[in-house]
Amino acid sequence: MIQFQLDSDKRLFENSLQFAQKQVRKLIEKHPDFYPMYTKAGKWKHDGPAWTRWCDGFLPGMMWMFHRHELAHEGKDTAFWREQAIHYTTPLEPRKHDKEVHDLGFIFLSTYYRWQRLEPKPALDKIVVEAGKTLALRFQENGQYLRSFVGDDSLFIDIMMNVPLVFYAARATGDKKLRDIAMRHAMTTQRVLVRGDGSTAHEGIFDFQTGEFLRQSTQQGYRGDSCWSRGLAWALYGFGTCYEYSRDPHFLATAEACTDYFIRHTPADGIPPWDFNAPVGKRKLLDTSAAAIAASGMLRLSRLVQDPMKGHLYWATGLRILRTLCERHLGKDRGYEGILTGGVYHVHKNLGVDESVMWGDHYFVEGLEHLLRK
Ligand code: GLY
Repeated sequence: MIQFQLDSDKRLFENSLQFAQKQVRKLIEKHPDFYPMYTKAGKWKHDGPAWTRWCDGFLPGMMWMFHRHELAHEGKDTAFWREQAIHYTTPLEPRKHDKEVHDLGFIFLSTYYRWQRLEPKPALDKIVVEAGKTLALRFQENGQYLRSFVGDDSLFIDIMMNVPLVFYAARATGDKKLRDIAMRHAMTTQRVLVRGDGSTAHEGIFDFQTGEFLRQSTQQGYRGDSCWSRGLAWALYGFGTCYEYSRDPHFLATAEACTDYFIRHTPADGIPPWDFNAPVGKRKLLDTSAAAIAASGMLRLSRLVQDPMKGHLYWATGLRILRTLCERHLGKDRGYEGILTGGVYHVHKNLGVDESVMWGDHYFVEGLEHLLRK
């Protein structure tokens, strides 16, 4: 396993993580207690709509990672980021009962789960478990999936990042029904949204009365039969995590198929277009958030795959993507508030297009923290 190819890589990643901390410090000084989603002209606070409230965990999630990084590196002040992380995490607790979104994994795995990993306590574990049980209530017996926030007939690829919260609750409580829900959701997603070439559809539409699968569709991608790059990144990361919980080799094989599609279809610098099948003119728009998620997912997968050559490929590719992000996509212009430039939220609604997005910043920091871990 290569760690760094060059010492200069290490310096680049360390400097970029410091830059990320600086941007987050500036954000919380300027807008205390504000949970941003995407920038408008490089500024976090604006009157743009959210579409859905799924991002509140990412800001405190970064703070937990900064804290963890400082704990691992001697001589650093470990109090500041811990205090901030707790301050921004605790207001999220009531969301453990939120039945309106399918995103409780994004919220609780970024925050309370990390807090619990660093400082295990039954009270923290209980909050993560409760959130997992709430998410499991979205399960549609007819169709065998956790439904998306848009309707009972809709399954999103993004939910693969959230279903690990149900696996967590199943493991913590020994509840086999919860485990079955998590397994069945992942198997349905695998069957209806992952194609034979490893590409993914964003959304599946069912007849929710009979459970019959009707068609592939999309909300944020170019078309129902296209491959939205962030959806693919959620899939490669999410199936890898489901493998970690279940040890079902089919999930690992799916994570690998999605990763291989990503690598084969992305330019050499590792930054994909927002949709791999958008027509040539529209494909110029990149999505750095998809790159950051895929990079972090690949670093994790590199330690899970059986074949050491493949493990090496995934580690080296994750590292290369992060290098490109650090060299070319940091928001260093004066007054720019985000960490990574060039993210995309929702092209069709014109929300956060070629801007910073909280999840892009969060998974970028996760990748850097992973690379620099001792
Ligand atoms: N809702 C998840 C995403 O926009 O990727």
